[in-house]
Amino acid sequence: MSDDAPVQLWLCRNEDLPEVHAVDLARCWLDPAEQERARRFVFPADRRQYLVAHALVRRVLAGHTGVPESRLRFWRSRRGRPFLSPPPEGWPRGDTGLDFNLSHARGVNVVGTAVNRRIGVDVERLDRDDAESWMRVAESFTAEERRWIDGLVPSERARGVLRLWTLKEAYAKARGLGLSLPFDSFAFVLDGGRRVRRFRPSRDDAVGRWQFLQLEPMASTIVAVAVEAAAGDAVTAHLRYGFPWMSQPPVVLDLPPTPGPPDTTPADREGVIVR
Ligand SMILES: CC(C)(COP(=O)(O)OP(=O)(O)OC[C@H]1O[C@@H](n2cnc3c(N)ncnc32)[C@H](O)[C@@H]1OP(=O)(O)O)[C@@H](O)C(=O)NCCC(=O)NCCS
Repeated sequence: MSDDAPVQLWLCRNEDLPEVHAVDLARCWLDPAEQERARRFVFPADRRQYLVAHALVRRVLAGHTGVPESRLRFWRSRRGRPFLSPPPEGWPRGDTGLDFNLSHARGVNVVGTAVNRRIGVDVERLDRDDAESWMRVAESFTAEERRWIDGLVPSERARGVLRLWTLKEAYAKARGLGLSLPFDSFAFVLDGGRRVRRFRPSRDDAVGRWQFLQLEPMASTIVAVAVEAAAGDAVTAHLRYGFPWMSQPPVVLDLPPTPGPPDTTPADREGVIVR
């Protein structure tokens, strides 16, 4: 794999991995800490989501690295972001510089991988009956973003909030900061479709360092992907559906370059990634 290797995205619904297989695979593949976490879920639906998500992550990463699912090891940053640990005997296919990120929401799991770049993914469901609480989420956004939402027709506002929210989470997760990064410290300008027109990063990050993809890959589901990319990089993403039992042809998507805001000069600051 090389630096221009496509970003890989898998979208797997819980029902794509029947429960009996999810339980079996989890027993064989998950490490003791994952098994323990799975046991602690109070609601069976949450446990099932966790088992499918973690079986999916291991299956995807085993396919990339050649390390069997049960022998993959992870470490977590102080903010909880998981990374692959090198196996003691070394990577069977050499160090591919693979980064990955997982998101799960109400029966849908998304895993993204990227080679020699950071990636963050977020998935949210639209068919929530709590549109009002999504509107409250917008209070954490910048004033310009809130104005953009207010300018949408009322029936589109919750979707507008979710578009911004998933993009913000994907960026914050790519940087490993999660919700500790204030969501009004960086800003997106969106168009009426699924494109990011402009992006202003937080002050400790460089302008022009990220590209974004926004998808509605199935009904009521919004996915955002943030990928680290140098200016001029043409990043492509391959999207696959279902549990990756075998190789399937992907849907090929291009990540358009994302301009910075018009009032910024190109930053010469080094981007900061918190581990
Ligand atoms: C990361 C975070 C935004 C996830 O929010 P969410 O919408 O509930 O969850 P998602 O389904 O989108 O993503 C969850 C997955 O993201 C990954 N993740 C966890 N922390 C992460 C981080 N800091 N950055 C990127 N990814 C992270 C994990 O794989 C996690 O799934 P897992 O716990 O089953 O392995 C949120 O948990 C957060 O802000 N964490 C950091 C908070 C922090 O600083 N904690 C310090 C103590 S650990």
